[in-house]
Amino acid sequence: MIIMIKLENIVKIYNPKKANEFEALHGVSAEIQDGELVAVVGKSGAGKSTLLHILACIDNYQEGEYSIDGTLVKNLSERQYANIRNEKIGMIMQDFALVEDFTALENVLIPLNFSKKRIKNKKEKALTALKAVGIEELAKKPCNKLSGGQKQRVAIARAIVNEPSMILADEPTGALDSRTSAEIMELFKSLNQQGRTVIIVTHDPKIAEQCGRIIEISDGEIVS
Ligand SMILES: Nc1ncnc2c1ncn2[C@@H]1O[C@H](COP(=O)(O)OP(=O)(O)OP(=O)(O)O)[C@@H](O)[C@H]1O
Ligand SMILES: [Mg+2]
Repeated sequence: MIIMIKLENIVKIYNPKKANEFEALHGVSAEIQDGELVAVVGKSGAGKSTLLHILACIDNYQEGEYSIDGTLVKNLSERQYANIRNEKIGMIMQDFALVEDFTALENVLIPLNFSKKRIKNKKEKALTALKAVGIEELAKKPCNKLSGGQKQRVAIARAIVNEPSMILADEPTGALDSRTSAEIMELFKSLNQQGRTVIIVTHDPKIAEQCGRIIEISDGEIVS
């Protein structure tokens, strides 16, 4: 098995050297293999989102090593870092982070337009992603006219449109009714069955128990 993600003694401090300095991760180590389906659980404030943001390369850390496919993230140039984030990682934020007055299609086009690679048939690719999450017919609807579950699907479509090898989702079912959340979980499972590494932060034991492995964080440390 290929070890895709390796964290060694990661320390995350918010506002370092300031009066409001706060150490959110106290030396987190973990390995996640290619193709795993992992749940990250823990109480509110434990450090789940912090960990996910570091994994997604959208936040820094003060100590420790993070490597993806054997490459140390801190040795990457700005450009390589941006490329990894855009092409290898699909991140679904806790609050969706959609552009509300863009249509579903326009939101899904964003990562394609940001890519350094020349991409042909962007619109077709975006529509394929929307189809994969079951909302192709909503492509032209502005996001502020969509339901919570539909927005969640747009956020997932946007995360998968570049066919990333790693999908990170922060509470993707937190605001959904149980039926919609079961459907969204099926979607993640099928993405995982296609060979993608999927990491889901969740408070819901029903979601966690469907994952191959559960990582529990408490007060900035992995406890099991
Ligand atoms: N930008 C920030 N500046 C200062 N402290 C922060 C910042 N973001 C998070 N923290 C603190 O770090 C700790 C971990 O926060 P984090 O958002 O990772 O928790 P979480 O496990 O995702 O919680 P939740 O389940 O509520 O989403 C919390 O104590 C939080 O107050
Ligand atoms: Mg969080």
